[in-house]
Amino acid sequence: MASRAASRSIARAASSAARSTLAIRALGVAPRFAARAAAPATATSAFQQIRGIKTLNFGGSQEKVYERSDWPKEKLLDYFKNDTIAVLGYGPQGHGQGLNLRDNGLNVIVGVRKDGRSWKKAVAEGWVPGKNLFTIEEAANKGNIVFNLLSDAAQRDLWPTIKPFITPGKTLYFSHGFAITYKHQTNVEAPEGVDVVLCAPKGSGTTLRTLFLEGKGLNSSIAVFQDASGHAHERVVALGVAIGSGYLYETTFSKEVYSDLFGERGVLMGAINGLFRAQYDVLRAQGHSPSEAFNETVEEATQSLFPLIGANGMDWMYANCSVTAQRGALDWHQKFYDASLPVFQDLYKSVKDGTESQRALDKNSQADYRESLEKELKEIRESEIWRAGETVRNLRPENAKK
Ligand SMILES: NC(=O)c1ccc[n+]([C@@H]2O[C@H](COP(=O)([O-])OP(=O)(O)OC[C@H]3O[C@@H](n4cnc5c(N)ncnc54)[C@H](OP(=O)(O)O)[C@@H]3O)[C@@H](O)[C@H]2O)c1
Repeated sequence: MASRAASRSIARAASSAARSTLAIRALGVAPRFAARAAAPATATSAFQQIRGIKTLNFGGSQEKVYERSDWPKEKLLDYFKNDTIAVLGYGPQGHGQGLNLRDNGLNVIVGVRKDGRSWKKAVAEGWVPGKNLFTIEEAANKGNIVFNLLSDAAQRDLWPTIKPFITPGKTLYFSHGFAITYKHQTNVEAPEGVDVVLCAPKGSGTTLRTLFLEGKGLNSSIAVFQDASGHAHERVVALGVAIGSGYLYETTFSKEVYSDLFGERGVLMGAINGLFRAQYDVLRAQGHSPSEAFNETVEEATQSLFPLIGANGMDWMYANCSVTAQRGALDWHQKFYDASLPVFQDLYKSVKDGTESQRALDKNSQADYRESLEKELKEIRESEIWRAGETVRNLRPENAKK
């Protein structure tokens, strides 16, 4: 998911303020934004302060955050000693979550369609047919904690197959609020007597796996939709830690899916793509070269300013650029806000009323969906802005060395 991939890059950016500052100087493309002062060390001190504390102040609001230090490996092993976790699907999330659970020593099995792409990948990664690799039906039957990590369209299509195995006393786990929130479109209803929980890593399964192997953790959102056992919340916190999360933020199924679909269509990908294109096209129409238009629109943003905003905040960015840039950005941000607010309002409405989910389900379940997506992606790839970008990227000092 785009939002997760983007939050991953932002997290990386946040941890590399110093590197970014150096990068500004090395690139030399943004002299007017070169930092005048070193970034304050707020990230580190905030981290030290919040370790172990469960209720934190986020811009004036109190929110609960759960931390993995409360669930050391021995406690997890004891807590899940009688459980079989069935991971259905072996896409990026099935791979990352499944391997992390396995490496944490829990009893985990994978369920995917026999001899499909995922089956072959699972075998290559050490899952053994008949031992801990099964068909979707077999795994759903054997597991008492069932992770539904099939693609969102497959969660709808296979629900009639999976549902009979989700019997009272089991836990049904999702990594997206999609299937349950849009149940009028997916027909996925929470079965009676079952805990229905969500843990959505804020990044791809590959990042989840990589950070786990490095002894770090990716942040995740957690939610309980149905608490049949009375322990669903505790259970999803423990599962969140077991899959390799660092901090766990509370949400609901609908808030998770609304914010996720909204964000990836908005600032994380759709809106930023639109803004990049519009600015580039105006510069080109006014006679600027492709390299100048690209550098001033994308390269400077992604290579120097965005990482600094990630590391230090927009307030710091404004305070640490030339007064000429500061004056202009202060004056113009309101115009962009006013122009885009109604678009974001329309977008949220379209997410909430199910228009976006229906479109995703319809489009992504067509037999030729990969081919038609590829046609649209090719248009982006072959547009002037991104062809110019390829050349600019190749000229980055680190790439020029290769
Ligand atoms: N990717 C992310 O960054 C991310 C982050 C957080 C949460 N999530 C959520 O996690 C869940 C899984 O996402 P993902 O990206 O890992 O999944 P994905 O790549 O979209 O698909 C996962 C699995 O679905 C299976 N599948 C698709 N169509 C099928 C069908 N008709 N019959 C049987 N199996 C089918 C695939 O098996 P085959 O290989 O056999 O086709 C694959 O194992 C989703 O709810 C997603 O929204 C994703």
